[in-house]
Amino acid sequence: MPELKLPFFGHGGDYNPDQWRDRPDILEEDIRLMKLAGCNLMSVGIFAWSALEPEEGRFDFDWLEDVLDRFAENGISAFLATPSGARPAWMSERYPEVLRVREDGQRNLHGGRHNHCFTSPVYREFVRRINAALAGRFGHHPAVVGWHVSNEYGGACHCELCQEAFRAFLKETYGSLDALNRAWWTGFWSKTYTDWRQLHSPSRFGEATLHGLNLSWKRFVTHQTVDFMRAEVAPLRAVAPNLPVTTNLMTLYDGLDPFRFASVVDFASYDSYPRWGADDASEAALAAMNYDIMRCILHRPFALMESTPSQVNWQDVCKLKKPGMHLLSSLHAVAHGADTVQYFQWRKSRGAPEKFHGAVVDHVGHEHTRTFRDVAEVGRTLPKLAGMLGAPTPARAALVFDWENRWALEDSQGPRREKHYEDTVLEHYRALRRCGVDVDVIEEGADLSGYALVAAPMLYMVKPGVAEALESFVRGGGTFVATCHTGCVDRDDLCFLGGFPGPLRRLLGVWIEETDALYDGETNGIRAEDGQTYACSTLCDLIHAETARVTGTYAADFYAGTPAVTVNAFGAGRAHYIATRPGLDFLTAFYRRRLAEAGVEPLCADLPDGVEVSSRASASGRYLFAMNFSGKPARIRLPVGTDMLTGEAAGGDTALGVNGVAVIRVDAAT
Ligand code: GLA
Ligand code: ZN
Repeated sequence: MPELKLPFFGHGGDYNPDQWRDRPDILEEDIRLMKLAGCNLMSVGIFAWSALEPEEGRFDFDWLEDVLDRFAENGISAFLATPSGARPAWMSERYPEVLRVREDGQRNLHGGRHNHCFTSPVYREFVRRINAALAGRFGHHPAVVGWHVSNEYGGACHCELCQEAFRAFLKETYGSLDALNRAWWTGFWSKTYTDWRQLHSPSRFGEATLHGLNLSWKRFVTHQTVDFMRAEVAPLRAVAPNLPVTTNLMTLYDGLDPFRFASVVDFASYDSYPRWGADDASEAALAAMNYDIMRCILHRPFALMESTPSQVNWQDVCKLKKPGMHLLSSLHAVAHGADTVQYFQWRKSRGAPEKFHGAVVDHVGHEHTRTFRDVAEVGRTLPKLAGMLGAPTPARAALVFDWENRWALEDSQGPRREKHYEDTVLEHYRALRRCGVDVDVIEEGADLSGYALVAAPMLYMVKPGVAEALESFVRGGGTFVATCHTGCVDRDDLCFLGGFPGPLRRLLGVWIEETDALYDGETNGIRAEDGQTYACSTLCDLIHAETARVTGTYAADFYAGTPAVTVNAFGAGRAHYIATRPGLDFLTAFYRRRLAEAGVEPLCADLPDGVEVSSRASASGRYLFAMNFSGKPARIRLPVGTDMLTGEAAGGDTALGVNGVAVIRVDAAT
């Protein structure tokens, strides 16, 4: 498989020359401005289908060729998009089957974007044709360095074609109706299926209460989307096997399991839109966790495919970036493994819904704007970091964020409606980062070799082989951390019999007899190993320490004094259980000890909240990023090295201003 191997840090954004074909002066001016902003990589043609195929079978690619030629002449590269994210009206009109059907069985009207059936052979054929034509014409164009396939795949279709594909997927998964009925526990409420034809996607207007069905449907939607993407990619690879492909994924998007895209993309890419300007420390942690997920899809650098150079247009309140935030937030992605910094969008459109979305070039049309200067600053900075292109992140701590676990957990009823899975994982992430270490964010079942510590908060669903892998990880000396509501169901969402945490009982050395739910705002406390009492919330497992040793107890309620935190010695390692949901202060103190025990050295000790340090490493050295999202000036102690932004000696006692960032290169020898 080809990889994204750019000779430079990519810098640029979504570019829509198709909207400006009657303004050659503007297209010409764009090139001047791109060079001025230090932009070298544009994504073109993303929603350009009606310009590329104005009527069925008649392709008009000349305008695109002009753009790509001009790029090549000016040293600008392009990710060439396939246009499947939205399609021309003539297609929906003549072939209504390309349109999506809702869960109430009604077919959508033409409009919007992402409004296509991902099964329809007609739609797939139209996509194949235009992709083959684009590849034929531009697959070897000197400006094109990769494929931007579709745009933010998402949503689902409930048409008859999709129902048939779903049934085939279920047959493949379960083999027989008997097996499916057993796995889904369909004896409940008389739900037993007696014919495959009775199976239908979950719907608020029909069956939406069967967890096995809901979970299978979510798996199917990812499967079918990946299958659709594979079909999109085939004609591209046939012509240009060396061009890497990607598709841009969204922030913690619940509808698709991002890790399943590993089988079809050559590099991951991501659209990042934090809400800066309110609680930047939390937003930075969320953005960072997402970047780490993207990096871990293939364990390779990824592309920051979209970010805004100023504000978006779709948040309830669309704040501007404050001074310094643009450089900081751009380098934040690079710190976590991005080899590009790209924007939505290069130039503001004149009309339609995104006309007020931030862009490098505003309606005013010239470069004398704060945003343009911010972008140009990134354009001047990235070349200084070229030494770290392609450099991986050597994380020794890993955090599990698993989509299927999330789906099952969120669909389950009781002990409370909101389980706060994402928030919980993010709290653990943030605590680990506060300890000053790099973190990989991986799916359940991922390879654990190379890690010293693995945490899997709320691992409600334990899939086949996972307990065994975790046991062997800990037996070999690893540290494992689990939390409340763990080990409840198997891959099919059937409860483990014989006591929770099911297959993890031996490793954790505890039995969870009951789980109490706390009201919103209600807390209990943990009397912890360091003698302090920390608040905890949401869920409290009432556990028996079987082979585990108790390291913390509940502070209140009828279970006061019973175990809240335990550790089980297992082989050469240890497995910890936190039976509830503590806050950041407990978790930071907890992980600081666990990392020290596991021998994981922090990149920087005693980080103030909101200051993040992360790293990339190549054979010749380590690149440390120190980033201040705390909203106030900060001082930290960094290893001594060279400041890559100024070329001067740096490190030691380091001051970071508000929104300040330092990038320090520490040579391998030091
Ligand atoms: C998404 C889409 C873009 C654009 C931006 C706006 O990320 O991919 O086409 O709509 O949002 O923020
Ligand atoms: Zn469909």
